[in-house]
Amino acid sequence: MIFRQMFDNVSSTYTYLLASRHGGEALLIDPVIEHTGRYLKLLEELDLRLVKVIDTHVHADHVSAMGKLRDATRCVTVMGEQSPADVVSMRVRDNEKLSIEGLTLTALHTPGHTSESYSFLMDDRVFTGDTLLIRGTGRTDFQNGDPYDQYHSLFERLLKLPEHTFVYPGHDYKGDTVSTIGEERAFNPRLNVSSADEYAEIMNNLNLPNPKMMDVAVPENLQIGLRLEAQHRVPSTEVEELLEMWPDVQVQMVDIREEGERRRDGAIPGSIHLPYRRFGAHCSEAGTLRNLSRNASLLIYCAVGERSTLAVEIANEHGLSNIAHMPGGFRAWKAAGGAVETVG
Ligand SMILES: [Fe+2]
Repeated sequence: MIFRQMFDNVSSTYTYLLASRHGGEALLIDPVIEHTGRYLKLLEELDLRLVKVIDTHVHADHVSAMGKLRDATRCVTVMGEQSPADVVSMRVRDNEKLSIEGLTLTALHTPGHTSESYSFLMDDRVFTGDTLLIRGTGRTDFQNGDPYDQYHSLFERLLKLPEHTFVYPGHDYKGDTVSTIGEERAFNPRLNVSSADEYAEIMNNLNLPNPKMMDVAVPENLQIGLRLEAQHRVPSTEVEELLEMWPDVQVQMVDIREEGERRRDGAIPGSIHLPYRRFGAHCSEAGTLRNLSRNASLLIYCAVGERSTLAVEIANEHGLSNIAHMPGGFRAWKAAGGAVETVG
């Protein structure tokens, strides 16, 4: 396995790079916008293809590199389903699996630092974001933070993991890089409490100043989709337009979400499934999409319209032209009352 821990010394943030092999797919956790070039260079040096980027939560102390990395690599952006960010390609639920080639992470909803904070467990290690830090825990005094939620996330979820599980936090201000669940259970002073009330008492009296970047970082991190619409202009057909014609739509609808998302949320009746992961191959000379596009106009949809935008760009680069996407994706379709069929 390829594993890198990278540090941003302005916000003391750790960013993690994971991949199963050279030449394969890679994933980044909590990238910082100022280091986008550094990540892209490292990916190239290690011969890796970035396919997913995760933010554990909406960060208040740095601007996420998710949007920039998506624009540069067409990777899939991932956050928990509770995230208030406008456009995140894929939203995971508690206990849901998230995969890239050769690696699988389990999403754990661990609210408290913020209401949408997630941790990600992978075999012998857990990426705890700002929920569990080394000999500390993330503050709970803004962005819907709640010390009682955090107490539950820590004591009922993270501390119940096997004690040898490595803890890789989202930050460290002292220079520590890794700990274990057993170590934190024994030596983390914040966890040396006998009740949720006692924990809340500590957390409610930290009196920390707001992060310097907060007023810039939070709004920026909530609108990673804005740049998507400005920078990637591709043909589209709005949900309303489709619903007016339904069921006589004169297009073949193509669902490019992952199988897990389809099973979880359902799909648009009559659509075919061609996952985004292999979209370039679908567009190639012998590819399914190229064959389909000979006989019909294609309408691509995903969860929220991010992957579908990038997919139309890829298709255009392969010379396919009668192809558009559905802005807002399956979320907008469902919200407008569009028909849904169960999958699997
Ligand atoms: Fe945070």
